[in-house]
Amino acid sequence: MIPGDAEAITESLERAAALCDDLTPPVYARLFAAHPAMEPLFVADRSGQVRGEMLARVIEAILDFAGDRKYAATLIQTEVVTHAGYDVPPEVFGVFFGTVADTLRDLIGEAWTADIDAAWTRLLAELDWYVTHPDQSETALV
Ligand code: HEM
Repeated sequence: MIPGDAEAITESLERAAALCDDLTPPVYARLFAAHPAMEPLFVADRSGQVRGEMLARVIEAILDFAGDRKYAATLIQTEVVTHAGYDVPPEVFGVFFGTVADTLRDLIGEAWTADIDAAWTRLLAELDWYVTHPDQSETALV
């Protein structure tokens, strides 16, 4: 990521939040429409609470990752491992992060600038590195 990307990512999230009280329904609707096999993974989440909490954690992690990176990189690595227990394969993480980006882009329309688009492209690529390198004993040496 380059200087200015954190502000662009934050702006996209703030603009979407101003237009939509709860991103949970549009994000998961988009996810399940494009990837129907993911819906049954949430079958135990009858109230939708897990989906909502998970998205909130993901958005917080994205903001941290785009900014100070105090915890998000290791959180993502940890979640890749714990989610294997929910039958969630690692490649789905990139799909989920991309679905968040696509949902924001649709919501904010013309306010999705070229700078925001480029910042998200770089963010998604860097997030993916941690998804594909979940072993913290290896990445600590990088
Ligand atoms: C950094 C990314 C992620 C974070 C921080 C995260 C966080 C969480 C948390 C905190 C829970 C437990 C919530 C609770 O029990 O209240 C959870 C459960 C779950 N997550 Fe994620 N998650 C991430 C990515 C994903 C992805 C990409 C998928 C696949 C679409 C996924 C699918 C699930 C499923 C199926 C459950 C269990 C639902 C249940 O208990 O019924 N997660 N996640």
